[in-house]
Amino acid sequence: MRIQNSLCIIRARLAAVAAVTALALFGSPAMAAAPESAPESAPATYVGEKACLQCHEPANKHFGHTLHAKVFRLNPKNDTERQVCEACHGPGSKHVSKVDDKNFIISFTREWGTPIEKQNTQCLQCHKGGQRLHWPGSTHASNKLGCSDCHNPMANASAKGLLKKASISETCYTCHQQQRAEFKKRSHMPVPEGKMSCEDCHNPHGSTTKPLLKADSVNEVCYPCHAEKRGPFLWEHAPVRENCINCHSPHGSNHDKLLVSSRPQLCQQCHSPSVGHPGQFFRNDQTAASALIGGAQSARVIGRSCQNCHTQIHGSNHPSGARFQR
Ligand code: HEC
Ligand code: HEC
Ligand code: HEC
Ligand code: HEC
Ligand code: HEC
Ligand code: HEC
Ligand code: HEC
Ligand code: HEC
Ligand code: HEC
Ligand code: HEC
Repeated sequence: MRIQNSLCIIRARLAAVAAVTALALFGSPAMAAAPESAPESAPATYVGEKACLQCHEPANKHFGHTLHAKVFRLNPKNDTERQVCEACHGPGSKHVSKVDDKNFIISFTREWGTPIEKQNTQCLQCHKGGQRLHWPGSTHASNKLGCSDCHNPMANASAKGLLKKASISETCYTCHQQQRAEFKKRSHMPVPEGKMSCEDCHNPHGSTTKPLLKADSVNEVCYPCHAEKRGPFLWEHAPVRENCINCHSPHGSNHDKLLVSSRPQLCQQCHSPSVGHPGQFFRNDQTAASALIGGAQSARVIGRSCQNCHTQIHGSNHPSGARFQR
């Protein structure tokens, strides 16, 4: 009954608004000449959040505690923000008069079917640039992700960032199952422990570096936290300079220290047995297994393997550290 009444009021107000709008349109000679300015094609107008809450009070219960609600209601910077609900959902006059027509309100749920570009445009009117400078054309944008695939501004589901799930990684894992598995491996970056997140290395909104890396190269991603690996070194180890993932997997690995393979195989991938001493190293009769049946195990396969001698594998600053032994 209450809703019915207020709806009547809204409708009456709308009629008035429509009349004013029509006057404004037809009053101008240029517009009067336009062939189809029928009232139905007039753009929807703002009705204000009070109108929305008549029917959507439940949605407001959680929304009321979010940053948007606080900013838009208490300290709006411009007219769009002042519209509160309609700042995101677009002007609602038509929706209010015909609630089941899906063309009449911008929704961010998959079921409603508002085109993704239209949804994202709503958010980007206020959030263009900054971290989203490279959103257009990014992997996520071109795979038709909506802002609302990761964000839910209707509630505080996460401590910050208005995310869909409680944490950044849980939000990403909804689509990236393989990465969830990688972070479960024996050696992994401390993402599951909460010491860092996907965002420390990636910018999910887009970047100029594949795959959505936060910095200009893999190494530039790693240096802020592993500064001692940046150097400069008197003696540099070429593959370290080139790319950390020559030897490390960035998410997780079942080998020690996130290594892509076990040692000494790791080193032997590049240090061909025919060059220098590695060629005489690690013959079949020098393995741990052969040692058990009376052979002589090579000291070079024990423990840290090649690194028993070549300890400074990321680079050396010792005058005679050219072979990374010191
Ligand atoms: C007369 C009651 C009424 C008013 C007033 C009203 N709505 Fe709705 N709205 C509905 C109903 C009912 C639906 C669901 C229609 C359906 O599911 O077919 C709906 C659907 C929606 C949806 C889509 C929900 C989804 O599932 O994706 C959004 C968004 C929305 N309304 C926002 C608003 C906003 C913003 C306002 C204020 C401008 C507003 N509504 C005013 C009744 C109303
Ligand atoms: C900052 C932008 C923003 C504002 C402001 C906003 N919404 Fe939403 N709304 C969204 C997004 C995004 C979703 C989709 C959430 C999801 O993925 O479930 C949504 C979902 C909805 C839905 C459908 C799902 C649900 O939670 O029931 C309704 C109805 C709705 N909003 C109404 C409102 C009303 C009413 C207001 C004002 C009190 C409002 N919204 C303010 C962005 C906004
Ligand atoms: C009318 C402008 C406007 C629109 C539209 C808008 N926002 Fe915002 N948003 C803001 C303002 C203002 C803040 C407060 C922080 C700030 O000043 O940057 C904010 C903050 C945020 C934050 C940070 C929250 C936090 O806890 O740090 C996220 C995430 C966000 N918005 C996502 C969205 C998404 C997703 C949409 C579209 C569904 C959207 N916004 C639509 C103005 C807007
Ligand atoms: C693939 C997931 C994903 C998508 C898609 C996404 N975001 Fe985000 N967004 C995040 C994550 C993760 C954060 C960081 C949250 C934190 O720091 O806790 C974030 C933070 C933000 C922030 C707050 C920090 C800042 O940059 O000011 C805003 C605003 C924001 N996103 C807006 C958007 C808008 C607008 C879109 C759509 C064009 C969008 N996001 C799409 C994952 C996403
Ligand atoms: C709604 C699903 C969805 C969510 C949520 C999502 N992604 Fe994605 N992501 C995709 C799709 C689709 C692709 C492109 C296809 C692929 O490579 O699997 C992609 C690709 C990527 C790529 C590879 C980019 C490239 O250039 O190859 C990275 C990195 C990435 N996502 C990180 C993230 C992070 C970090 C989050 C959480 C903040 C996240 N994604 C959340 C769907 C999602
Ligand atoms: C320590 C930095 C770091 C963290 C933390 C991190 N990534 Fe990555 N990620 C990378 C690097 C570096 C690559 C590039 C690997 C390559 O080129 O082979 C990558 C690649 C990817 C790819 C592309 C496919 C692949 O595996 O090569 C996806 C998707 C991805 N990351 C998602 C995630 C998600 C989701 C999270 C959080 C749960 C996350 N990443 C956390 C550094 C990181
Ligand atoms: C945001 C900071 C941060 C970034 C960025 C980062 N790391 Fe880490 N890394 C850590 C922390 C924290 C640990 C855990 C140290 C500990 O537990 O003692 C760690 C551990 C490691 C380890 C040792 C793992 C083990 O089992 O002991 C390796 C190897 C590593 N990181 C390589 C990388 C590489 C390669 C990159 C770039 C793709 C990178 N890190 C980027 C913070 C970071
Ligand atoms: C040539 C292969 C190789 C490359 C390339 C490489 N690493 Fe390593 N890294 C190793 C090996 C082997 C270990 C194990 C060291 C040990 O057991 O003492 C290691 C260990 C680490 C550790 C943990 C132990 C420590 O020394 O702090 C971190 C962190 C690390 N690497 C970061 C990096 C970063 C960052 C890069 C890129 C700048 C990089 N690594 C490039 C081979 C490599
Ligand atoms: C991705 C390939 C790659 C991997 C993996 C790799 N290296 Fe290297 N290493 C190189 C290259 C390239 C050089 C530079 C060779 C040159 O300057 O002639 C080099 C140089 C060296 C040198 C100095 C030799 C010289 O001639 O100056 C030593 C010692 C060395 N590596 C040991 C190791 C050890 C030990 C490992 C395993 C922990 C390892 N490398 C893993 C590519 C690799
Ligand atoms: C017992 C100590 C020791 C072990 C273990 C060891 N090396 Fe060496 N390595 C040396 C010494 C000593 C040199 C020569 C240094 C010199 O000539 O200045 C050397 C030289 C090298 C060189 C440069 C060869 C050249 O022709 O200049 C490479 C490459 C190398 N080692 C790789 C490896 C790899 C790969 C492993 C593991 C499979 C390994 N080393 C294990 C002691 C060791």
